[in-house]
Amino acid sequence: MKNTLILAVETSCDETSIALVRNGKDVVAMEVYTQMDTHAMYGGVVPEIASRMHTEAITLVLESLLQKSHVKLDEIDAVAVTYAPGLLGGLLVGVEFAKVIAFLYNKPLIKVNHMMGHIYANNIDNNLKFPLLAMVVSGGHTELIEMNSDYEYNLLGATMDDAIGETFDKVARILDLPYPGGPNLEKLAKNGNVCYELTKPVNDAIIHFSYSGLKSNVINLVHNFKQKGIEINKNDLAASFQSVAVDEVIRKIEIALKAKTYKQLILAGGVSANNYLREEVSKLADKYKVEFSVPRMLYCTDNAAMIGAAAYPLYIKHLNFASYNLNAKSHISTIE
Ligand code: KG4
Ligand code: ZN
Repeated sequence: MKNTLILAVETSCDETSIALVRNGKDVVAMEVYTQMDTHAMYGGVVPEIASRMHTEAITLVLESLLQKSHVKLDEIDAVAVTYAPGLLGGLLVGVEFAKVIAFLYNKPLIKVNHMMGHIYANNIDNNLKFPLLAMVVSGGHTELIEMNSDYEYNLLGATMDDAIGETFDKVARILDLPYPGGPNLEKLAKNGNVCYELTKPVNDAIIHFSYSGLKSNVINLVHNFKQKGIEINKNDLAASFQSVAVDEVIRKIEIALKAKTYKQLILAGGVSANNYLREEVSKLADKYKVEFSVPRMLYCTDNAAMIGAAAYPLYIKHLNFASYNLNAKSHISTIE
């Protein structure tokens, strides 16, 4: 079989990342330049600063990647780029950069949905096995997706209001934790006990996710305790919140697993870095005797290797080939 080498570009949030991926699995080289320390000073990602930092970094990131890998740009077969969803300014930097390389080296340009990238991160160290159930948990998405083969999918459930990662970040902020909120909240939760009673999302009839009630509950509880001068045990509140938030994911995955048999249950997206979530989903997979897959930490957070992995089946199937008028989009679902 011919080897296919894809240059993949990812700039949807606060990581400027470029990777060379062979046959959608072999990460020949990857560079990730993170802006996290800068955004931490502001308590969250500042979109305009993110765009500017991508502009400053992207050519240097490519230069470093090529130096380390000893690959020349004319050796690649295609250029893949995250075009949606994410912060528009950052996406535009990556899209324009990818277009110029595709144009100069006369290579196909493949547009990749960032969320599909998170799913295909599971195909790097493991293999996707269809039909599979994918639980996508990120800053902007809480989606349950069934995939019957590459890029053939059904959306089973989606975010009705706040996404799970967004809720972790907002609760972290209420607890005065520094950015990034989710991982810092997880650290507190490790030392806490589940003892605060919080609102559990109740909708069981259809598979849909709602976190706004839980978020408001935590915010109100913190305000009430402050007003009354009662001290909050942050570790315990973090543990209690995390337990309810993860329970909601488990409950909804279980509805899907009861309804149909899958070969694989995969976790995808930034929140899949959460160890408690990984453990709970893994236990559920054992209960239903379905293989569980989650990317290693490096491929859970935003990175270009996963974009190269997601682009490979698109290249083979000749899907998502984009023209030079490709534009970025800030909001799309995983299945668009
Ligand atoms: O997928 P991602 O890197 O960016 C988006 O595409 O949204 O996900 C980022 C989200 C943030 O909300 C972040 O707080 C959350 O993932 N996150 C975590 C953890 N690591 C990242 N949430 C909970 N526990 C973690 N360990
Ligand atoms: Zn992401």
